[in-house]
Amino acid sequence: MIFPNWTTNSIVLYAILLIAALSAGPVIYFGQALGENKLRSRGQIPARAGMAFLYSVPILALYLSARDYVPNANPIQWTVLAVVALHFVKRVSESLFVHRYSKPSGLLPTLLVASLYSTAAYVIGWMNRDPIPGMDIGFAFGIVSFLVGIAGNFYHHKLLADLRKNSLDYFIPKGGWFGYIVCPHYLFEIITWLGFAMLSRHLAVWLILLFVIGYLTARALRTLEWYRREFPTLPKDRKAILPFIL
Ligand SMILES: NC(=O)c1ccc[n+]([C@@H]2O[C@H](COP(=O)([O-])OP(=O)(O)OC[C@H]3O[C@@H](n4cnc5c(N)ncnc54)[C@H](OP(=O)(O)O)[C@@H]3O)[C@@H](O)[C@H]2O)c1
Repeated sequence: MIFPNWTTNSIVLYAILLIAALSAGPVIYFGQALGENKLRSRGQIPARAGMAFLYSVPILALYLSARDYVPNANPIQWTVLAVVALHFVKRVSESLFVHRYSKPSGLLPTLLVASLYSTAAYVIGWMNRDPIPGMDIGFAFGIVSFLVGIAGNFYHHKLLADLRKNSLDYFIPKGGWFGYIVCPHYLFEIITWLGFAMLSRHLAVWLILLFVIGYLTARALRTLEWYRREFPTLPKDRKAILPFIL
């Protein structure tokens, strides 16, 4: 793992990042954010446009964080920038062409999530000016983890979208890992971010991964509660995010 130079400023910044990472899960799980209905609260802006915007801004943030060293970047730095950019391009494309949203998005949540993702992308791009010294087994694992993550995430997004061929209602999802957990798309999203952490190796990126794990695990647990409330026929052994365990 690559640690920062510990100065007063960096200690304060990393303490904030650690607190944010550790509190993401409890805030989402115990907060009111997910409310009574399914996760995404109703807002005023068209969902596709809002989501595409939300995932586009981090691409700009990544570019801004790296533009000064990009002309002299080495293959490791290029790889880190490419996987993060690819992830967000994929999410923009899914928002535009795959997801079938049931309602408009809220302006405030859209701006908040765009800021969080942009901060994450900026931090990864910034840290990448000091990359790992060479490609090792962890780097190869990072690439595999990234590829498995985006493929699995996309596959389960497609299964969700296919539920809505005839109506924008909610259904019990089937196929893939939906047979074991209600949020396989979240599990594969975590695997994608594990890939980023393995490729970057910076402490800050591991803390971002911790944030993503806390956030998505809490969201998956709340989603499972929602399914149990809405669909009493949901099999009793269905878990939230980790097959057979959680
Ligand atoms: N890195 C992170 O921290 C993070 C955090 C959140 C999300 N994400 C990414 O964003 C992706 C989407 O997240 P999300 O929270 O919006 O996922 P989600 O709530 O599962 O929704 C994804 C899409 O599927 C629809 N859907 C969900 N459950 C359905 C059901 N039972 N029947 C029919 N349609 C259903 C949703 O409909 P509605 O339009 O009705 O909502 C939405 O259009 C995640 O998989 C992940 O890749 C990442």
